[in-house]
Order: sequence, then structure tokens, then C-alpha cells
Amino acid sequence: MSVLLEVQDLAVAYGHIDAVKGVSFQLEEGKITALVGANGAGKSTTLLALSGLLRPKVGSVRFAGEDITGLAPHQIVRRGIVQVAEGRAILTTLTVRENLDLGAYTRQDRAGVADSLARVFNLFPLLEERTSQYAGNLSGGEQQMLAIGRALMAKPRLLLLDEPSMGLAPLMVQEIFRTLVEINRDGLTVLLVEQNVRQALKISTQGYVLETGLVVLADTGASLLANPKIVEHYLGG
Ligand SMILES: Nc1ncnc2c1ncn2[C@@H]1O[C@H](COP(=O)(O)OP(=O)(O)OP(=O)(O)O)[C@@H](O)[C@H]1O
Ligand SMILES: [Mg+2]
Repeated sequence: MSVLLEVQDLAVAYGHIDAVKGVSFQLEEGKITALVGANGAGKSTTLLALSGLLRPKVGSVRFAGEDITGLAPHQIVRRGIVQVAEGRAILTTLTVRENLDLGAYTRQDRAGVADSLARVFNLFPLLEERTSQYAGNLSGGEQQMLAIGRALMAKPRLLLLDEPSMGLAPLMVQEIFRTLVEINRDGLTVLLVEQNVRQALKISTQGYVLETGLVVLADTGASLLANPKIVEHYLGG
């Protein structure tokens, strides 16, 4: 097994509020890892620290063998860590195509960008049908697809997702999870934060459970799905 990202003793605070209190975890290259936990457990804070949007108070982050602790967001994106924003954060007054092009703005390899666009359209045929529509006219699920597509246009080595299924109808939730499996099959490493614990663990090799800023359980996705504590607290008994 090869470790792509290693987080050690990460602590993140908002002023005097300690949101993440010393978490350690590893992401295996080419695998999906789930980060689950109740509201306020520190999941989003952890992702924001990995993206460089929040500076860790303590701890270290190593990515592909390099210490990236405390780097700025653009430096982290350049290394291949790309986050699909919570609440989607697509640009509603731009077209679908313009949103996708923005995802590739750091890239110089035109042929590679064209390949990425073809792959995104292959994953989400609906986006290809709507390239010239304003993103604001897409449904919630379609906007989520666009947000994922835009992140893929950056050609990430690690994709971070914060609750991609939030607020979506069941069929669309299935579609999003199916797509994540397909993206992962291309070799992309994924860190998935989800309230939909059952679905997330089902597609994840490894899972970590956060409670009030601490990792309280770490195991394979399959073992966590069968763990009585997880069943009771996160899978509705
Ligand atoms: N901007 C902020 N300022 C102050 N405290 C914050 C801020 N953002 C989050 N917190 C606090 O940090 C803790 C962790 O929040 P975080 O958003 O990381 O949790 P989460 O696991 O993503 O929760 P959810 O499932 O509700 O998204 C919570 O106690 C939260 O109230
Ligand atoms: Mg959150």
C-alpha cells in the first residue's frame, strides 16, 4: 500500500474554539477514504485545513512525500489537491462550459485539458448537452455534477468532497455515488466527507469517524458498516 496523504496530530482552531483537536489519518493512493461524524465534529474544518484555507495550529500534512503544512491554497491546488466546495459554489452567471474551463485555469497542457473535458462529458453527458446554459439554471443535482466536473478539470491527484449528496433527491444521490466510484476507477484518490454514512462507507476502502474534533474509530469501510456502534449512531439502528 502506498500512502498519498498523511495527516499527523492536526489541530485547527477558530479563535479560541478548538474545532479539530489532534487528528491523524492516512489516505491510501488510488482509494476512497470516508470521513464521517455528527454535525460539528470537525469534518469540514479538516478539509479546509487540507486545502490550505485554514492554517493548522498544530500538526503536519504530508502529500506525495512532501511536507505541505501551512502552504497557501493555490500552492496546494498546484500540487494536485482539489476540493469540491460544500454548497457547490459554482458560478451561476457563467455557462456550464465557462465553469468547466475555470477548473482548468492553472493548466498549460491544451491536449490534456481537452482530454479532461471529454472525460467529464463522458461521466456527465448531461453537462455536454447544456454547455452553453447558465449554471444557475441547472438543478441542484446538476450543479453538484458541474462542481465535481470543474474539480476534475484541474486534473487532481486527490479529490476532497464535502457532503456531495447533501440536499439531493435519492436518485441523484445514487448518481453522485456511482460517479465517485467511476472517478476512483480512473485511479483518482478520494477523501469523502458524508452525512450519508452508509453509502459513503460502502464505497470506501477505509473510514475514519470523527467526534468533537477527534478520531474515535478507524477501520475498513466494510468493518465500520458492521460495527454495532456505527450501526446504532450513524445507520439508524
Ligand atoms: N467559522 C467558524 N467560526 C467559529 N467556529 C466554527 C466555524 N466553523 C466551524 N466552527 C465550529 O467548529 C466545529 C467544527 O465544525 P465543522 O464545520 O468542521 O463540523 P462538521 O463536522 O463539518 O459539521 P457538519 O456535519 O454540520 O457540516 C463546530 O463546533 C463548529 O461550530
Ligand atoms: Mg461540514
